[in-house]
Order: sequence, then structure tokens, then C-alpha cells
Amino acid sequence: MNHQIFAPYKLNEQLELKNRIVMAPLTRCFATEGFVPNELAIDYYAKRSSVGLIITEATVVHETGHGYPNTPGIYTGEQVEGWKKITSKVHENDGKIFLQLWHVGRVSHPIYLDGKSPVAPSAIPLSGRVPRTDDLQYGEVRELETNEVYDLIDAFVKGARNSFAAGMDGVEIHAANGYLIDQFLRQQTNQRKDEFGGSLEGRLKFVLEIVKRITDEFGGQKVGIRLSPGAYFNIEHTDGDEETFKTLLKELEGYNLAYVHTGIFDDSMSFDYLGGNSTSFLRKHFKGTVIACGSYSPQSAKEVIDTDGADLVAIGRPLIANPNYVELTKENKELIAYSEEMLGSLE
Ligand SMILES: Cc1cc2nc3c(=O)[nH]c(=O)nc-3n(C[C@H](O)[C@H](O)[C@H](O)COP(=O)(O)O)c2cc1C
Repeated sequence: MNHQIFAPYKLNEQLELKNRIVMAPLTRCFATEGFVPNELAIDYYAKRSSVGLIITEATVVHETGHGYPNTPGIYTGEQVEGWKKITSKVHENDGKIFLQLWHVGRVSHPIYLDGKSPVAPSAIPLSGRVPRTDDLQYGEVRELETNEVYDLIDAFVKGARNSFAAGMDGVEIHAANGYLIDQFLRQQTNQRKDEFGGSLEGRLKFVLEIVKRITDEFGGQKVGIRLSPGAYFNIEHTDGDEETFKTLLKELEGYNLAYVHTGIFDDSMSFDYLGGNSTSFLRKHFKGTVIACGSYSPQSAKEVIDTDGADLVAIGRPLIANPNYVELTKENKELIAYSEEMLGSLE
């Protein structure tokens, strides 16, 4: 059978992808001093340019947005220069690349913030151990002042501006996985009394302002967004999530976005309140391009495209293990299995 996954896909008038396989955003923690991408990242991304679209590792838009060691930023000139080297190599290889714009919000610790408390919509801490540390626990968080929320909207817009200055083909707004934007969306983590909380409209305001400002400046065709309608990581489900995401998806249809992308580790997980898995929920409530993601095997990735469950499919861990994933799966060759030790080097 001729699988659609290897056929080109016209994302819109401005972008055509050579196939329907997307590299999922993958934090690798190899940035150097000043949160500049490491030189090794040039080859790491270039080697994976045979996918239809690369989405970079989550990249921080503001100094208060770091929550893991050595994650790159897109808020200084030096960082822009670092990313330029990556985009030019990817383009030399005929690849396409979007930068994922990120702020972790409460998913951080003073060790990553020069001793300061993490910031969030409300002072509601995350519980649990900070990854990659022995025994540090997530702790106190500070509620953002209203003017600081506006500053962070500016930071996302500046991040987009810097991404295009670095030669990116587009940006993906990281509104998934329990990070800052997701924290604004949910009732449990957003108990603000100002215009950024208090009602569904208030909770949607932060993300919609970011979307509006970035699409006003660059058009929607170069802007994607990642969402986690199924709460599974760094955040809990609260009543009203279904309504929140339905309303958000409807609003997003007005911006002519490049795509909406599922943020989840395993898309076979079904959620009662979504009436199924995350991607089918996005498919049902959003008319534009949908990227599926989450533990897709070569077989299930082909199937989700062939059955029109999604337009594109993002592959994460298998692409860490197999830079030539597209070529291997096209020829039905065996893949090298992913293992966590592979995170120890950037190859
Ligand atoms: C090491 C690692 C780093 C990740 N970093 C990010 C990230 O920076 N941004 C993001 O949205 N998701 C991130 N994810 C989630 C992946 O994008 C993807 O949703 C997940 O790995 C499921 O896809 P897979 O089964 O094909 O790996 C990460 C996952 C892993 C394993």
C-alpha cells in the first residue's frame, strides 16, 4: 500500500512539507553559557532534516521561564546567532524548522532562577521532586502582577520576532504539558482576580493575546500551537477543561494558524471528559491542520494519516534513536529502540 505519510503536504500557501512526519519538540539540555544552542545541535538538527517539519526543543522566551538545566533561549542576540547556524544548515539540507516558544511558569525552582521564586498565574505550587536533582522539591511560587503578565505576552512576541530573525520557518506556541500558558488555561492553577482569570474568557486571554499579537505581525500561516486537552503532566484535570478547550479551539480557528499539535506522551490514553483520545478531540473541534503525537509506532503513524485521524504525525523518541527515521520507515526497515541513556549525548 502507498502510505500517505510519505507524500508531500501543503500546509498553506506559504509552506509545503515534503512528507507528513514531524520531529516532535525534544528538550535535550545541551545549551551552553548564556543559554545559546550548542554547536553540536547544528548537526543534530541537520541530520534530521528529512522529516517534513522539525519543531525545535522548547526554547525559553524570558529569563523567568527556565525550569531545566541548559535549555536554550530566544531572548538575547547571542541566542539568535546560535539558532541562525541551525536554521541555515537545516535549510541547506532542504528541511523546514519551527521554533517552540516556551515559558515553564511554576514548573521551576530557584536553582534555575538566580535564587528567585518561580512565577505563575496564581501562587499554587506544583508538588513533587524536581527532575534531574536528587532530592529538591518544587516549592513556593509567586503570583504574577498584572503588568508582568503583559510583559510576558511581549516576551512571547519578541521570541517570535527573534525566531524569524534567526531564519526559522515558523514558531510553535507551547501551550501544552502544564507549562505557563497551560497554567493560565486551567481553573486549578489560575485563580486570578484580574482580566487574566476569573472566567473562561479571562483564562483564555493570555494565550489568545499571544496568538493575536504574533499572527498580527507575521500572519497565521507560520504559527502553530501545541495543546494538551488531556491533562497528564505537571497539571491536573479540573471540571470545565472540556469547555475550555472546545472554546479555545473555536477561537483559534479565526487566526488561520498553520496547525494545532497534540501534547501528550501516549496518545492511546483515553479521557472521559474528552470523549476519547487527545488527537481525536482536537480533530473534532478544530477545522485546520492537526498534528498527532504520542507513542506512535511506524505502523500506527501510517494508520493515523491514512484514516484521516490527523494530517501530520510528530515523532519524538524514535527520532532521537534514529536520525534517518523517514528513510528507515519508508523501506520498512527495523528501527533502533530508544533508551534513556541516549539522552546523555547529542548525536
Ligand atoms: C526527552 C524528551 C524531551 C521532551 N521535550 C519536549 C519539549 O521540549 N517540548 C514539548 O512540547 N514536548 C517535549 N517532549 C514531549 C515530546 O514532544 C512528545 O510529545 C513525546 O515524547 C511523545 O512522543 P514520542 O512517543 O514519539 O516520543 C519531550 C519528550 C522527551 C522524551
